[in-house]
Amino acid sequence: MWGGRFGESPDEIMEEINASIGFDKRFAAQDIRGSKAHAHMLAEKGIIAKADADQIVAGLDAISVEIEAGTFEFSRALEDIHMNIEARLKETVGEAAGRLHTARSRNDQVATDFKLYIRDTLDHLDGQLHALQEALVAKAKAHAATVMPGFTHLQTAQPVTFGHHCLAYVEMAGRDRGRFADARKRLNESPLGAAALAGTSFPIDREKTAAALGFDGPTRNSLDSVSDRDFVLETLSAAAITAVHLSRLAEELVIWVTPGFDFVRLPDSLTTGSSIMPQKKNPDAAELVRAKTGRVIGGLTSLLVVMKGLPLAYSKDMQEDKETAFDALDSLSLCIAAMTAMVTRLKVNEEAMRASAAKGFSTATDLADWLVRTLDMPFRNAHHVTGTLVAKAEAKGCDLDGLSLAEMQETEPRITEEVYSVLGIDNSVKSRTSFGGTAPDNVKAMAAFWEKALAGE
Ligand code: ARG
Repeated sequence: MWGGRFGESPDEIMEEINASIGFDKRFAAQDIRGSKAHAHMLAEKGIIAKADADQIVAGLDAISVEIEAGTFEFSRALEDIHMNIEARLKETVGEAAGRLHTARSRNDQVATDFKLYIRDTLDHLDGQLHALQEALVAKAKAHAATVMPGFTHLQTAQPVTFGHHCLAYVEMAGRDRGRFADARKRLNESPLGAAALAGTSFPIDREKTAAALGFDGPTRNSLDSVSDRDFVLETLSAAAITAVHLSRLAEELVIWVTPGFDFVRLPDSLTTGSSIMPQKKNPDAAELVRAKTGRVIGGLTSLLVVMKGLPLAYSKDMQEDKETAFDALDSLSLCIAAMTAMVTRLKVNEEAMRASAAKGFSTATDLADWLVRTLDMPFRNAHHVTGTLVAKAEAKGCDLDGLSLAEMQETEPRITEEVYSVLGIDNSVKSRTSFGGTAPDNVKAMAAFWEKALAGE
């Protein structure tokens, strides 16, 4: 392709380190789409003949068929997807193929391809997260009143409902989708026509190619256009945050399926056995969601490092943006799918959740609140009285409601029989009616809110 200046062909090792076709063949569809838009525009502007553009477009369509059929022969000697397609176009339509690269460089071409690819990926991830939200909302609806322990420091804190817990992840996924949508908006400017770095002397119409490719308009600075990988970085950082959310839920599943907790059961088909211990049923899918988060974070970190020292404009370092991004985004997509399957099919062990929720003095805050409300005690005093009662119960080896009224009155004589009504876990969750709180009616209403919002998209 650039033989004019060169006296010898590339060394084997040069070819090996330089070639990107092994991974950028993923851009085939985007590359062809971009080339067709470019060819049409060149002809409309009279830069190439209409007959040549027609041949080019027909040739690209034929190549697209070959690629889809798996008959296209990719060549490492041709370096990348752009050169592979152009070389094949030459074989297919002859001389006209040589006119396609007028007023264009691989630098703006690869930026365009990658933006189109990321845009498709963002749309796909958004759909997947939508499905995950639906699965979580369905569980929330079914378990709006299923009491489980809420934790802080992984110590029993206050009773909550499983539905409320599920909806916490729906909120996270909602913000994740917001970040992806935001990244999509910002990336949607076309670099095509920035050429190598300085623009071109040909009278091209960048508005036209931008519109043809679904971009909102052309980028405004040719140097920035070919050296910008913010759109990948932004996507990867949103992906990393999403993966962290999935990883936290995965970690909870891993904990919840242990015999010690036994809060949920995963179907056999989403777990694995042990080759030696016949009783084992391991939550490998959840563990791998947790682990693959490392790859997603790694992808972001590695591209940040690749980019941080690059002077403007294009440097070949930027070819390293792809494998890491593909791996991170593929991993995330797989994790969302696996998590959606687990959430959809997990079975809740309501008895185990209830029993655990009642343990660990989980209604101590309710007792303190009762003292404030009924005896008009300042909260700090109520906290102290309750703490004393917890210590008493702990010494006696019972829960708070295992203390007799006489025992409670030793600590605070004004306590009455009525106090026992707030020590039950159902009453506890029912009382959390503040906006965003865990009361079953709140959870039902919030699940309905999400159901409607998701159905309306
Ligand atoms: N394969 C290259 C990449 O992925 C395409 C751009 C090549 N441009 C260049 N001037 N060598 O970045």
